[in-house]
Amino acid sequence: MSHNAPHTPVLLKEVIEGFKGVRDGVFIDCTLGYAGHSFKILEKYPHLQLIGIDRDDEALNFSTKRLEPFANRVKLLKGSFSKQLKEVDFSSVSALLADFGVSSLQLDKKERGFSFESPTLDMRMDQDSNFSAYDLINTYSQEMLEQIFREYGEVKEPKRVAKAIVEARKKRAIASSKELSQLIAKHTKTKSKIHPATLYFQAIRIEVNRELEEIIELLNILEEKQPKGAIIALITFHSLEDRLVKQRFRKWAKRCICPANSIRCSCGNNNNLGIELNRKPIVASKEEVSNNLRSRSAKLRLFRFND
Ligand SMILES: C[S@@+](CC[C@H](N)C(=O)[O-])C[C@H]1O[C@@H](n2cnc3c(N)ncnc32)[C@H](O)[C@@H]1O
Repeated sequence: MSHNAPHTPVLLKEVIEGFKGVRDGVFIDCTLGYAGHSFKILEKYPHLQLIGIDRDDEALNFSTKRLEPFANRVKLLKGSFSKQLKEVDFSSVSALLADFGVSSLQLDKKERGFSFESPTLDMRMDQDSNFSAYDLINTYSQEMLEQIFREYGEVKEPKRVAKAIVEARKKRAIASSKELSQLIAKHTKTKSKIHPATLYFQAIRIEVNRELEEIIELLNILEEKQPKGAIIALITFHSLEDRLVKQRFRKWAKRCICPANSIRCSCGNNNNLGIELNRKPIVASKEEVSNNLRSRSAKLRLFRFND
């Protein structure tokens, strides 16, 4: 196993455990990244074949090499999982994992533009995409900027920053994440310990990569395909993501679908698509958080579709 992966998988033990009892067939890793999860899963479950998806070339190149020992069981696809999954035959899918968000490499590599010190303003996970943070910051109206900061960053008063961006770019385009983070810091009053640009950057990243739409589309595809007996493991990193997964799993697990005002159940009380394997999300142990800070906000939810 390669020990130089630029990303440490979160909740690895818990994911492996979650797939216990998985039947033969295809395991889809929607967010392959550096194959931290997939490598272990292929090792632990020798009867599984992997379809690994990622929209980041760097991640796919790394994982192609890392997964060479399993080459005859692996197929890798480049692109967003919402698109790629439409081409997949779900009849033999027995497990699916998505570990949403960005990888450590994407965050740490300055030229990718995700960090506060970056000399570029990019934040695209997919290097082939034609829409970057530069386009967003230099073309969105003040109202649109306010809206994404409020909705995706959950910033309470986004107006000052949105206005400052629009003013600053009148002189010249905002060209780097460093410049942007300094501008945000200058126009926010916060006592929090985190960098004042954190939530703004989160919002920009979500918009640039259509992160929430991707999750909704994944849930829609699963709802349509309902792969028999398959175990679905989804790891989220903030409340906007977790809410989407939680609500959908609850809906799928509902046995009774009678209208709320019905006096008595007449639907048969067996309409659930499967069961939630954990009612409360699984979170990282103290030990994992102390070794990998990124795991502190991770939440794992598991669902198993009916046979
Ligand atoms: C958190 S990392 C996954 C890390 C991986 N589990 C590991 O252990 O190495 C997320 C990866 O998913 C990819 N990604 C995120 N959203 C995606 C999407 N909608 N479609 C395809 N890939 C996506 C990112 O490019 C990134 O490489």
